[in-house]
This record gives sequence, C-alpha cells and structure tokens, in this order.
Amino acid sequence: MSLLKLLIFLAQWRVARAGQGKFWHISDLHLDPDYKVSSDPLQVCPSAGSQLVSNAGPWGDYLCDSPWVLINSSVYAMKEIEPEPDFILWTGDDTPHVPDEKLGEAAVLKIVECLTKLIREVFPDTKVYAALGNHDFHPKNQFPAGSNNIYNQVAELWRPWLNNESIAPFKEGAFYSEKLLGQSGAGRIVVLNTNLYYSSNEQTASMVDPGQQFQWLEDVLTNASRAGEMVYIIGHVPPGFFEKTRNKAWFREGFNEKYLKVVQKHHRVIAGQFFGHHHTDSFRMFYDDAGAPISVMFLTPGVTPWKTTLPGVVNGANNPGIRVFEYDRDTLSLQDMVTYFVNLSQANEQGDARWELEYRVTEAYRVPNASARSMHAALGRIASDHDVLQRYYVYNSVSYDLQACRQACRAEHVCALREVAFDAYAACLRAPGTAPAPRLALLLAAPLCLRALLAR
Ligand SMILES: *[C@@H]1O[C@H](CO)[C@@H](O)[C@H](O)[C@H]1NC(C)=O
Ligand SMILES: *[C@@H]1O[C@H](CO)[C@@H](O)[C@H](O)[C@H]1NC(C)=O
Ligand SMILES: *[C@@H]1O[C@H](CO)[C@@H](O)[C@H](O)[C@H]1NC(C)=O
Ligand SMILES: *[C@@H]1O[C@H](CO)[C@@H](O)[C@H](O)[C@H]1NC(C)=O
Ligand SMILES: *[C@@H]1O[C@H](CO)[C@@H](O)[C@H](O)[C@H]1NC(C)=O
Repeated sequence: MSLLKLLIFLAQWRVARAGQGKFWHISDLHLDPDYKVSSDPLQVCPSAGSQLVSNAGPWGDYLCDSPWVLINSSVYAMKEIEPEPDFILWTGDDTPHVPDEKLGEAAVLKIVECLTKLIREVFPDTKVYAALGNHDFHPKNQFPAGSNNIYNQVAELWRPWLNNESIAPFKEGAFYSEKLLGQSGAGRIVVLNTNLYYSSNEQTASMVDPGQQFQWLEDVLTNASRAGEMVYIIGHVPPGFFEKTRNKAWFREGFNEKYLKVVQKHHRVIAGQFFGHHHTDSFRMFYDDAGAPISVMFLTPGVTPWKTTLPGVVNGANNPGIRVFEYDRDTLSLQDMVTYFVNLSQANEQGDARWELEYRVTEAYRVPNASARSMHAALGRIASDHDVLQRYYVYNSVSYDLQACRQACRAEHVCALREVAFDAYAACLRAPGTAPAPRLALLLAAPLCLRALLAR
C-alpha cells in the first residue's frame, strides 16, 4: 500500500470511528435498604418475604433485592468499564419487592432520589434518559394516566437530565421525547410510561388510550419520519410474554395489540427498543405481515439478583448485569451489545465484586451487528441448534442458571422471543414440537430445519 493510500485509509477509518458511539443501559436496580448480613435467616432482607436466607454475603443474596454496596458497585463499574458513554438509559424499578404497607410514597421517592444521586455523582456530565418502573409508584403498579405528586417530584429529581420542554409532559404522564444527544443531530429518544398498560394497573384498566400516550407516540414517530430522524424507544414493562414460564404477558391484550401496530406501522424510524422488567436477558422480535424482521426489542438484565416468586417459574434468580451498546451515531444502527456481570456467589466467597465481560452478542450468535435482521438470524440459531439455545439460556439468567434447557424450556423461550402478539404466541406454543413458524429466513435455511427435525 502506498503512503498516500495508507493516509486515505487512515482518514476514512477515523471518520468511521468518529461515527461510533456507546451508551449504557441499566435496569431493575431494586434497592433493599434494609439488607444486612445476619446469621438469622429471617433478618437478612425484607424482600425475601418469609423465605429463609442462610449464608447471606456482603454483596447480596439470590433471594433478596440489592444491598446498597451492590448498586454502588454496579454504577462505579460502569464508570470504570466505559467512563464516557454518549448517554445512559435507565429503565426503572428502584424499590424492593415488599408489600406496599412497608413502603409508602415518601419511601419510594426517597429511594428514587438515592439512586438518582448516585448516578449523578458517578456520571456528573452524562445525559440520562430515565423511565419509571412499575415499582416506582405507591401503591405499586397503580400509575395514573394524569398528573400526580410522584410524577411531579420525579420530574424535579430528574430536572438536570431533562430538557426544559420535557418537564411539563413528564409531570403530566411520565413520558417524553427529546432529540438524542449525539453528534449528528438525527436521532431522537422516546421515553414511554408503559406502566399504564400493565395488567396489574387498575387505574387504566378501562381506558382505550391512557394519557393519550399512543396517540402522542404516533405523532412523535410521524414527525420523526418527516424530519428524517431515527428513534430509540425505552420503557420499563415490555409487551409480549415472559420467557421463563407459559402464558404470562404483562400488557393488557388491547394495549399489547396497539403497541405492536405502532411498531409495524412506524418501524422504518425505530432504530431500537430498550426495556427491562424481566430481570433476565432476552429480546423480542417484531415482523411485518410477510414475516420479514422489522424491529428488535432488547430486554436488559437487572442489577438485582432477586429470585422471582412468580408462579410457574423455576429458580428465577439472576446474577447482576449491566450493558453497553455500540451504535452508529449517524443512523442509530446498533453495532453490538456487550453485557458485563458479577458472579454473586463468587463475589461473596471472595469478598470482592468483580464485574467481568459476560458476552458480546455478535460473538455469541455469530452475527455482524445487533440489527433486527441479525437478531432474527440469532433466533434462528437459538431455535435450531441446541448448543446455541443452551448458550442463550445461560445468558438469560446472566450465567446464574446453568441447567440444561430442554424441550419445554425451548418452546417457552423461542415462542416468547418470536411472537409478541397474544394469538401468535399461543399458536407457537401449540405447534407440534413447537417447530419455529416458517419465517422467511428459516425457509432459506431449510437444511438447518431439516437437521433440527431429524435430531428431535
Ligand atoms: C462505592 O464504590 C466505590 C468504588 O468501588 C468505593 O470507593 C466506595 O467506597 C463505595 N461506596 C459504598 C458506600 O459502598
Ligand atoms: C430552562 O428554564 C429555565 C427557567 O425556567 C431558564 O432559566 C433556562 O434558560 C431554560 N433553558 C433553556 C435551555 O431553555
Ligand atoms: C409534531 O409536529 C407538529 C408540527 O411541527 C407539532 O405541532 C406537534 O407538536 C408535533 N407532535 C409531537 C407529539 O411532537
Ligand atoms: C460463579 O461462582 C460459583 C462459586 O464460585 C461457581 O460455582 C460458578 O461456576 C460460577 N459461575 C460462573 C458462570 O462462572
Ligand atoms: C447488519 O447486519 C445485517 C445482516 O444481519 C446486514 O444486512 C446489515 O447491512 C448490517 N447493518 C449495518 C449497519 O452494518
């Protein structure tokens, strides 16, 4: 290569590099302020309820929500791993899993404040886009469609992160949209309050469009399309089904359908969807009527290791996880997703919480990037190759549950990943041997399907 060519190559490489950015996504920190190491198994943490917590360690326990030191450690680990993200996504659930009577509005607000302060202390100059989770209200889950004291107070807590124009809408409904901070100015963020769609929310149960959030979302996406912007959507409670059991959806069916319709109509401007709530590491595919992948929603794992008490879930704890996305600042296209974790039992044994790389999505599933098309290919491998399914399954609990994922487990995960709609999910579970529906790319990958059939 001549010197000139080398210089041109280097210049182009630098331009390309300048277009690459990173951002953090964290979720479900769930502080248990009363966690303490105690030899009395009933005194360790209120979030364990009546379960006995034996051998509790300083960094937390799989039966409990996060002690402060664990949350502190996770945010400082972010600073050490990637100190200069373009921004941080924080998708809520800050308080412990305890009965409402043990919290109250003041306690909920206090915990939101503590976590907000910690993130601001560690990342004083970083823009944070934050959504409320279903636990960030009192009584929990009962988010109203209009203004109230909690939305008001949280808007004040988050004022340093919000544009002036976002304060009023936040106080009205806890959702807002802003131009995304970055270099090209062609990006937009939408922060949703999907707690309004949660089936445990009685306040909005009979409403068609609580807070007119759907109408607003349609308008924002239509405007984005006109302005040539690409959009990231974030929220706490996701649509679709929980992958660790059967038939557990979070949205009411009508809201689930509406959300799906919005994505199908506006997918061309949606560059990514980032949600939490599950505490597990998973993703959801969205397809058009012809079966082509049009969008992907990433579900980021929780920092809390808390073992869910949801009926039907076996051993539903996880290791604490945090996540970085690598993206193109001009197009918002997702290049990679990198998850870091702490092995909680090891941390307690060693007295030191070491945050390590768990996996890169492009390496784990041998895909070129984290686009919808690539994640569709990843899902194809998860569905058809047992080793890939097992790898996905271990990551799903952030390397906590190392058991084998067999036939029923495979069906639950694959159907939840593939089908966000209620009827399509049910049909997927009913399918003989839960064969993957014949989507476009799977037809192309017919030999793979055949192999999977023969192996069954
Ligand atoms: C928070 O983490 C930092 C960095 O590891 C440490 O210096 C500090 O002492 C921790 N604070 C608490 C309260 O654990
Ligand atoms: C935001 O509002 C405050 C007071 O209402 C004002 O001082 C400030 O200049 C405004 N900032 C912007 C960027 O408009
Ligand atoms: C969409 O754009 C129109 C025209 O600029 C504006 O009046 C409206 O407020 C925008 N809607 C939303 C939800 O941003
Ligand atoms: C986590 O640590 C425990 C205890 O040291 C160990 O048994 C387990 O294999 C570790 N898990 C992973 C995924 O490394
Ligand atoms: C991402 O990967 C897909 C293949 O899965 C490819 O078609 C697409 O061009 C890639 N996108 C970018 C922006 O590199």
